[in-house]
Amino acid sequence: MTGETLLEVEGLRVEFGASVAAVRGASLSVARGQTHCLVGESGCGKSVSALAIMNLLARGGRRGADKLSFAGIDLRGMSDREMARLRGDRMAMIFQEPMTSLNPAYTVGSQMAEVLRRHRGTSRRDALDRAAELLGRVGITAPGMRLGQFPHQLSGGLRQRVMIAMALMCDPELLIADEPTTALDVTVQAQILRLLAGLQRDLGLAILLITHDLGVVARVAHRVSVMYAGEVVESAATADLFARPTHPYTRGLLECVPVPGKVKRDQPLGSIPGVVPKVSPGFTGCGFRDRCAHANEICAGDIPRHRTDGDHEYLCRLPRDWAHAA
Ligand SMILES: Nc1ncnc2c1ncn2[C@@H]1O[C@H](COP(=O)(O)OP(=O)(O)OP(=O)(O)O)[C@@H](O)[C@H]1O
Ligand SMILES: [Mg+2]
Repeated sequence: MTGETLLEVEGLRVEFGASVAAVRGASLSVARGQTHCLVGESGCGKSVSALAIMNLLARGGRRGADKLSFAGIDLRGMSDREMARLRGDRMAMIFQEPMTSLNPAYTVGSQMAEVLRRHRGTSRRDALDRAAELLGRVGITAPGMRLGQFPHQLSGGLRQRVMIAMALMCDPELLIADEPTTALDVTVQAQILRLLAGLQRDLGLAILLITHDLGVVARVAHRVSVMYAGEVVESAATADLFARPTHPYTRGLLECVPVPGKVKRDQPLGSIPGVVPKVSPGFTGCGFRDRCAHANEICAGDIPRHRTDGDHEYLCRLPRDWAHAA
């Protein structure tokens, strides 16, 4: 049912070796049939979080979580094999660079068919029919011809569409999309986003969309989480986040874009002087305090998580109304 929680992540932690704490207790949840956008500056831990959820971290990455559940299944205790069965089937991921998913050595048709063959044991002929149908669905004309082509014979926009179609082969419930349109020109970007929105409507797909583009967030997100230095510092329904950004970092990001209707296409995140700190395990306090105009000694200690009735959460010592008092 739309609205019911599909993916629930609590206290997600990822460390690389002894010196990098890339994700530090991040929490977020994605509801069935909805789009949850994850935003934040470069290096704040968005991709690592997505990869950790899918159990696709680079070697050396260690994952921990208080809760990591998908459709009621606890992903934490799953073997690599069980996880591989789930990936590409009930949950799929697409990337900024389609060649991360596409194999240059195989035709579009054979790699798309392989997904269904592996997960469902579908015959090659039926799998190719399904592939052709999905290529049509993502707006590729003459799908039969495309099935016989190799990835390098396609334009960037077409490759992106093929990657999306391939991710949909098994009709997943959740699609994690890591900046799927950043590398594309504006027109193709808009087409791909429309496509994702249409697929969501028709298939009830839940989408976790990582993006830098606030215009995209305003148009497609039901809910938004803002990440900073490995933590989700604020999370709210989209309209609520734009209307009442509360964490000083979120306010910095949205500075020039106070209401969704005023967000322009390709509106980048606002810029705040300084960069995201590289945080090591054992770091305490607020990761933003060195860049925050409101920081004091309290910010070096434990930071409270505030939650309002409307499910608007933020992680900061400041009271809920500090920025919104008349
Ligand atoms: N394999 C790795 N080994 C060590 N550190 C890593 C590894 N992968 C990522 N990191 C570190 O983890 C942190 C978070 O990286 P991540 O790629 O998640 O950022 P991001 O929010 O996706 O940024 P961007 O917007 O640029 O894609 C960064 O400090 C990065 O250097
Ligand atoms: Mg990234």
